[in-house]
Amino acid sequence: MSDLDVTTLTDAVLARMSAQVTPRTRQLIGALVRHLHDFAREVELTEAEWFTAIDFLTRTGQNCTENRQEFILLSDILGLSSLVIALNHPVAAGSLASSVLGPFYLPDAPEVPLGGELASGVPGTPTRYTGQITDTAGQPLAGAVLDIWSSDGEGWYDVQKPGPLQTSARGRVRTGADGRYAFWSIKPADYPVPTDGPAGELLRAMDRDAMRPGHLHFIASAPGCASVTTQIFASDSPYLRSDAVFGVSESLVAVFEHHPPGVAPDGRRLEQAFCTVNFDIRLRPD
Ligand code: BEZ
Ligand code: FE
Repeated sequence: MSDLDVTTLTDAVLARMSAQVTPRTRQLIGALVRHLHDFAREVELTEAEWFTAIDFLTRTGQNCTENRQEFILLSDILGLSSLVIALNHPVAAGSLASSVLGPFYLPDAPEVPLGGELASGVPGTPTRYTGQITDTAGQPLAGAVLDIWSSDGEGWYDVQKPGPLQTSARGRVRTGADGRYAFWSIKPADYPVPTDGPAGELLRAMDRDAMRPGHLHFIASAPGCASVTTQIFASDSPYLRSDAVFGVSESLVAVFEHHPPGVAPDGRRLEQAFCTVNFDIRLRPD
């Protein structure tokens, strides 16, 4: 028996896995051990640094509650969430690109009639969203569903507001026979990811911005098509190239056209300035 050292420890750990371990588990844990050990060797990790990392991960766990998932936030700001999405949801034939889910999704959002309002009384610029949902062959998808949620025009989600939850700026809209959708909400504002926990510390350690460009989240689904979790981003945001969670793709950037008070394309009369956005969606077969 020879003493384990910097060069032999990794193989010794890997060799300890029993023959019963499934190939995928062996691959996952094996690669994790190799990369962790290589990392420690590459940076010549000190014991103080190792302990700082343990303390950081401990506090990350302690910051997780029913309403807050600090590990996912960590994964988001390190680009891991977007990398996993890119690996698992390749864009085919111009189909809708995916983006991160984020922490503010709620299942069972209210159904809103086609052309209806998701955000009455919500601060922000009223915005009419329209578009057509088709398959990748260009066939309109009737009865496709957009499950939508966004911040208000000041960067706050309904779930972040104190007091009992009052659902706002979220809802589900179904396309008509021609695959077209329409709804009213507001123009979402740029806002920062939470920075009051370990993920915020890490952003500050990297001297990075916490801001996300204003975006509207949705999950698009239709029978026979792969559902897509994604966001559309306002083209006039100054944060498009520095999104704290690396969620922006070129194809997800939409122009919000600004209009003075007056009559909107659906006949609605507005006393205040409003926006219109058109965003067509192609879903690939399941
Ligand atoms: C969001 O877009 O809501 C979000 C995404 C990732 C981390 C924090 C917030
Ligand atoms: Fe968001």
